[in-house]
Amino acid sequence: MAAPAAVAAAASSPAAPRPTPEGLVAVTEGQATILYDDAQSVFYNEVQEFNRDLSISIIRTWLAGYRASQLQRYEKRMSMPDRRPSPNDNDPKKPEKPQMTIFEGLSATGLRSIRYAKEIPDIDEVVANDFDKRAVAAIKRNVSHNDVAARVTPSHGDANLVMYRAVSEGRRYSVVDLDPYGTAGPFLDAAVQAVADGGLLCITCTGMAVLAGSQFEACYAKYGSMSLPNAEFCHEMGLRTLLHTVQTLTGRHGRYIKPLLSLSIDFYIRVFVQVFDGPAKAKRAAQDSGLVYNCPSCYSFATHPFGKSVQKGGQSRTGLSTGPPVGPLCAYCESPHHVGGPVYLGPLHDVAFAREARALVQKHPGAFKTHTRITGMLTVASEELPTPLYYSVAALCRVVRAQSPAIPVFASALLNAGYQVSLTHCAPGMLKTDAPPAFLWHVLKHWIQQSGWVRKNVAHLSPGERLLKRLGLHADASRFGRKPGLVRFQINPTANWGPKARAGNTKAIKNVASQKEATAAQPPAKRARDA
Ligand SMILES: C[S@@+](CC[C@H](N)C(=O)[O-])C[C@H]1O[C@@H](n2cnc3c(N)ncnc32)[C@H](O)[C@@H]1O
Ligand SMILES: [Zn+2]
Repeated sequence: MAAPAAVAAAASSPAAPRPTPEGLVAVTEGQATILYDDAQSVFYNEVQEFNRDLSISIIRTWLAGYRASQLQRYEKRMSMPDRRPSPNDNDPKKPEKPQMTIFEGLSATGLRSIRYAKEIPDIDEVVANDFDKRAVAAIKRNVSHNDVAARVTPSHGDANLVMYRAVSEGRRYSVVDLDPYGTAGPFLDAAVQAVADGGLLCITCTGMAVLAGSQFEACYAKYGSMSLPNAEFCHEMGLRTLLHTVQTLTGRHGRYIKPLLSLSIDFYIRVFVQVFDGPAKAKRAAQDSGLVYNCPSCYSFATHPFGKSVQKGGQSRTGLSTGPPVGPLCAYCESPHHVGGPVYLGPLHDVAFAREARALVQKHPGAFKTHTRITGMLTVASEELPTPLYYSVAALCRVVRAQSPAIPVFASALLNAGYQVSLTHCAPGMLKTDAPPAFLWHVLKHWIQQSGWVRKNVAHLSPGERLLKRLGLHADASRFGRKPGLVRFQINPTANWGPKARAGNTKAIKNVASQKEATAAQPPAKRARDA
């Protein structure tokens, strides 16, 4: 293994270009150039450059703190009298100097591992593993082509077996990266054990039809959680489903998780999760997981954690939750609720960490071809409320056939009432808020009343009609509203028209004059509306 300083030096020295062997295609991404055959027998997806760039920026940000804490721990151990190095270097009591290692379980061409080795300073070893012989041959060829044999170890085996073997031999990796086809589910139990205390799990899952689409049966089979296909918040639900699976698996091993960043990107999700040893904290997981009740007709939803925080003997513990927080029927439109989950209900991101990662990317934009997108995503993520899930204002308005207010207008009504609001990186036009659905409908009621709402197709006995009734708005009442371009009331023929004062009646003349002043003092909008 190379010393970290040597790694940093190697990473900065430009490698001489090597000739591309006949029959192979060379692809350069970041500091790596990989060779793959035209037949593409080994998987390579150029679209995932964003995923790889993002991962490098996140691991670099995380590693700075992790390495410092590991070295500190090592120094502390070394300072203990029975651990001090003896003249005999083979002293079995001497703790090993911490090594920074990455395990990429499903490596294909080795591109990701090679980029990690070249672009993340202070990495001692990256194990690039695949169970396909052709992939391992490609990894070996690419390792040699990129001159990283000192830091990248090709490995041939089933990812689970390699990880379980490492655990059984007392070796754990600083980072475990899983980037499979489809779900990472089958690799999660080994991964949560194979990652070091305080280490980082990086997990990609594609197959959003399962995690966030119509395949809720498959979602339960693969992740132990029901997805909610009709929910507007299905992408965040997918992230929370994966985090819940990781959380429950870590708990079995007396470990707990802290999500640093959880992103829904194009056709997949990618989460970066720190794993810690700690049976006491693992027992608090019930406070951070629970069910989601969603109304598929009006999009109102509620979450229900399994446990709640209680104080017992001066200590914070997990108490039993009570509920459910909703009845069988939606309180607004009377449709039956769908029950989804269980999902993770804690924060998706560590805001300080997301800001740090963004600062790193902004400091080194040349290191990441996709830096503009990374910066944008990290900015939105770092501004997101930790409150689970979100609403589509347009979808709420669709239920009652109202025109949708502009997002800032709707958000400002919530903010004015003292609630918190944010966007979400998962989809445009969606709002996260700690306001309850009752308040959202209250705001929409006022919006409807103010905006000259024209009812269109609110079907008789539909959820929309029931909802309007609950809001105190009869579905037919809109015909009494204003219609653009329609003159419904007489227009004053002249200003200050009306019964004229009798000639010579000065008191009446005085009254007319004061009326005139009062009219002039009214704001123009009000005067126009009253006309
Ligand atoms: C999506 S590709 C990996 C892409 C790669 N991480 C990258 O960034 O370019 C998935 C790879 O996983 C490998 N694979 C699938 N199941 C595996 C298993 N159980 N153990 C090891 N490798 C596996 C496949 O051979 C394939 O090369
Ligand atoms: Zn409803």
